[in-house]
This record gives sequence, structure tokens and C-alpha cells, in this order.
Amino acid sequence: MVKANKLRNALRKARYAVLSRVYGRESEKARPSQHSIQDYWRDPPGKNNQPGAYIDLTEKSEALVRLAEELSVPKGPVLEIGSNVGRSLQSFLDHGWSDLSSIEINPQAVAKMAELFPEAADIAKVHNMAVEDAIVSMPDRHFDLVFSKAVLLHIHPDSEWVFEHMVRVTKGTLLVVENEDQQSYKLFPRKYRPIFEGLGMVQVDERILPEVGQTYIARSFRHPEAV
Ligand SMILES: C[S@@+](CC[C@H](N)C(=O)[O-])C[C@H]1O[C@@H](n2cnc3c(N)ncnc32)[C@H](O)[C@@H]1O
Repeated sequence: MVKANKLRNALRKARYAVLSRVYGRESEKARPSQHSIQDYWRDPPGKNNQPGAYIDLTEKSEALVRLAEELSVPKGPVLEIGSNVGRSLQSFLDHGWSDLSSIEINPQAVAKMAELFPEAADIAKVHNMAVEDAIVSMPDRHFDLVFSKAVLLHIHPDSEWVFEHMVRVTKGTLLVVENEDQQSYKLFPRKYRPIFEGLGMVQVDERILPEVGQTYIARSFRHPEAV
């Protein structure tokens, strides 16, 4: 069983290595399936997307917290989608939010959270599964803040229905911080203003957060009655 898993992982990693080489970052030709994208994020090959890559950059998380404060997000329930090792959850905890939930597909990242950010790991309800599986059973209009940073770019076109659920579970503010242009065979850039406004939300803020980077746009949305 262990051997079979190892072999499957090795084959998957080899496939990604070959695809990146043959098609390059810009190609659309090798667009992988929804399942292979989810598998990639469950156990990313290479160094770049390993949990270790998300440990230090706390200034990025602090920038999200400052924006939430500026937008007067109440200190009620918060949901992060794609929390990795939990550094943003820790920043929200440090600033007085203690009803924290998240969804993260990578089991190694979730395991590392207990080691790296034990306070946040103790308090947060982390759903270690794909957003596609976790968000459907979350309650309507529950969270004062639903946020994601550098995650929606990895959501496969077949999974775009999750955006509707993000709107459904938001009571207060929905904050998405995404690169809307970056192209590669396993990235899915989109313009989030028309997407979330098309789902009935109103964009209440748009800005670049220098700490996060010039290529990421932070957009905040609310239901019309909450504007
Ligand atoms: C580029 S990383 C960003 C991590 C974190 N938001 C940050 O900015 O430090 C993308 C994260 O989204 C997670 N992710 C990707 N696809 C996912 C899915 N379908 N469901 C849940 N998490 C997912 C990955 O495991 C990874 O932790």
C-alpha cells in the first residue's frame, strides 16, 4: 500500500515535471483536470509550494489584518480558504479575532501548523480537504470575513461554482487577494470584480497591498444590504 502510494506520487511528480518542460509556463495546451490540480496541491512537487515557503512572510498576513481593520470587520467568525501553515490565521488571532476557520487541502501544511503556529492551530477549526468538498456544508451568511490570498488562481474552471458558495457563507466581507493575469498550464487567472458582482455582491474596496506584491489585487465585496 505504502509502496503503491509512493509510486503514484513519483509518477504524478514526473508528469508535472515533463508537462512544465514540454509546454512551458505560458501554454494552455496541457491544461490538467480538476483532479490533477487538486492532487498537485495535496502534495506539491518541488520547493516553491512546500509548506516551508509560507512560514515567514508575516508582513503579508499583517497587511490583510490591517485591511480588515480599516474595513471595520467585526471580531466575529472568519473563514480563510487555502490557509496553508496558518500564518494569516495567527495574525488574525494576534489582532483579536478568535473564531477562526479555514479550509486547506494539503495535509502536510495542516500538520506543520500545529508546530509553527500552535496557538492558531489550537483555536482554529481547520478543514483539511478541498474547498470543493468543505464549503458546501458550511452555513449561510455565517462569516464576518471570508478571505483567500493566492488561492483562487489555483481553482480549476470546473470548480468555479465554489465562488457562489463563498458568497453564500459570507455575512459581512468577502476579501480576495489574487493575481488576475498570471498565465500557466496550471493557473486559472480571472477578473474577480465581474465574477462576484455577477453573483450579487458589491465591490466596496480595491487596492494593491505593497506587502503582498504589485501583481496581486485585493478586492473586498459585501452583500448589497450590508454596504
Ligand atoms: C499559493 S498557496 C497560498 C497560501 C496562503 N493563502 C498564503 O498566501 O500564504 C495556495 C494554497 O491554497 C491551497 N489550495 C489549493 N487548491 C486548493 C483547494 N482546491 N482546496 C483547498 N485548498 C487549496 C494550497 O494547498 C495552498 O496552501
